[in-house]
Amino acid sequence: MSGTGLSGWNLTARIYAWTSGPLSHPLDSDLIAYLGDSIKGAVVADCGCGPGLATRKMVYEGAEKVYAIDVSREMLGQIGQDPRIATLQSTMESRPLDILRENEVEDGFDLVLFKRSLYMHRAEALEVLKNAYSYLRLGGCIVVVHPEKKLGPYFFGSPRRLRSYTIPHIINRTSNRLGVLLGIEKYELYTREELLTLAGEVAGPQQVEVIPSGQQAFNMVAIRHSADLS
Ligand SMILES: C[S@@+](CC[C@H](N)C(=O)[O-])C[C@H]1O[C@@H](n2cnc3c(N)ncnc32)[C@H](O)[C@@H]1O
Repeated sequence: MSGTGLSGWNLTARIYAWTSGPLSHPLDSDLIAYLGDSIKGAVVADCGCGPGLATRKMVYEGAEKVYAIDVSREMLGQIGQDPRIATLQSTMESRPLDILRENEVEDGFDLVLFKRSLYMHRAEALEVLKNAYSYLRLGGCIVVVHPEKKLGPYFFGSPRRLRSYTIPHIINRTSNRLGVLLGIEKYELYTREELLTLAGEVAGPQQVEVIPSGQQAFNMVAIRHSADLS
């Protein structure tokens, strides 16, 4: 993976589920509440799935099939066997959804999830999102869950106070910045407004919804493929 700016993820793979897993659960709960019954029978692409925390929850909630995509073999190796989960090792920039659409997913996806994984440079992220949007079924959506760029809410939430995630988030932001400086990682961040602007460029701002969440350290947005809105 040298030169892709992605090799840092392999370094963290062995401890990721242990360190970030517990912090991830409230985000998953908000996501599942937003999806409601639409997850039942859904075909999902979990892009940048890591060790598969959300992947397994989608299956548990009734998804018919989840394609778990990640650049890191070490992350994918932790997902475990399930006939409703298929793994694909790929960068998102190399358009893995094209391959799935051509060979396996005839009608496209009900949900394409980028949970804490859309870290490539903005122009690349926009291309990746547009590509995902082109494969959404009518009524389907892209969901992006992304860390807040501003340090105050990311470290301390709102109102500002010490949180269970304060120390891990300080370590996380520092190590990711270091990874970028060393050239082993891409780590593009957005404020809430910047993320909404990016999402609005995919198919128009009228297709974008903020997903209700009390998680101040992350922003959650949906880009809907809805006949009503288009
Ligand atoms: C912070 S982890 C998030 C994992 C999981 N989505 C979660 O929330 O628990 C980011 C994951 O995205 C993957 N990733 C980051 N950039 C990627 C890219 N450009 N293409 C494919 N995978 C990528 C990393 O390997 C890592 O497993």
